[in-house]
Amino acid sequence: MLIAQLTDLHLRPPGLPAYRVSETNMMTARAIDKLRKLTPRPDVVVITGDMTDCGLPEEYALLRSLIADLPMPVYMVPGNHDRRDHLKRAFADWPTIVADPDFVQFVVDDHAVRLIGLDTVVEKSSHGALCTRRLAFLSDALAAAPNRPTIVFMHHPPFDCGIRHMDAIRLLDGSDELAAILKRHPQVLALWCGHNHRQVETMFGGVPTNISPGVAHQVAFHLDDDRDGSLVFEPPAFRLHRYAGGALVSHTVYVEDYAGPFPFVLDPSYPGR
Ligand SMILES: [Fe+2]
Ligand SMILES: [Fe+2]
Repeated sequence: MLIAQLTDLHLRPPGLPAYRVSETNMMTARAIDKLRKLTPRPDVVVITGDMTDCGLPEEYALLRSLIADLPMPVYMVPGNHDRRDHLKRAFADWPTIVADPDFVQFVVDDHAVRLIGLDTVVEKSSHGALCTRRLAFLSDALAAAPNRPTIVFMHHPPFDCGIRHMDAIRLLDGSDELAAILKRHPQVLALWCGHNHRQVETMFGGVPTNISPGVAHQVAFHLDDDRDGSLVFEPPAFRLHRYAGGALVSHTVYVEDYAGPFPFVLDPSYPGR
């Protein structure tokens, strides 16, 4: 099973960039085009939040049109740039989006790996949280199928990565409780996040945990200083996770094309021949 993880599209109304300089609509279209050309084809697409920049109805209409003819199911959870009400209205016919009356969270049991999407949004805030009800949703879902390999995904990372302005707006409430739930359920293969617009890996609650790079702009890299956040155009990318033989292995796929491929023409002195 192949799962493509896209994140932080930050779509804008047609014709407008994000942050004055980031042509997120074009960059998202390029990422989806890259995804469409992958062989073998991913079985599902997961989007870990910030599908839009401002949660506007025009932005969700563009999202719908961009993913409309993808041949595989798409599952998504909101980020701090999304608006739950507008997301639910734009995707009122998507069971995963409207399954929960208050949040956008769901369980998908249709695939080799069970997928659980969690809603970490705190309205009118940049940081995230998992309240008692959302934690109970996860705990109950995991308890219901302890033998099914499972992936949990959500927008806000629950750990500090060292980029201070992002750590200030990570999952600030519910992280300890989330870790405790994950520790109780060894069937969880991975926890996938977005929000930080950079590739970051750690272990959290005993589970391999990633933040995926964004499909548009990235967050500038600097550790342990007080600089304000800024964005850079490092190579946009998404993750391609392969579940086979009971193991999950994760790759990074760059959206743009680069020079090559070139054949491995071996030098006669290469010691392996
Ligand atoms: Fe974002
Ligand atoms: Fe975010």
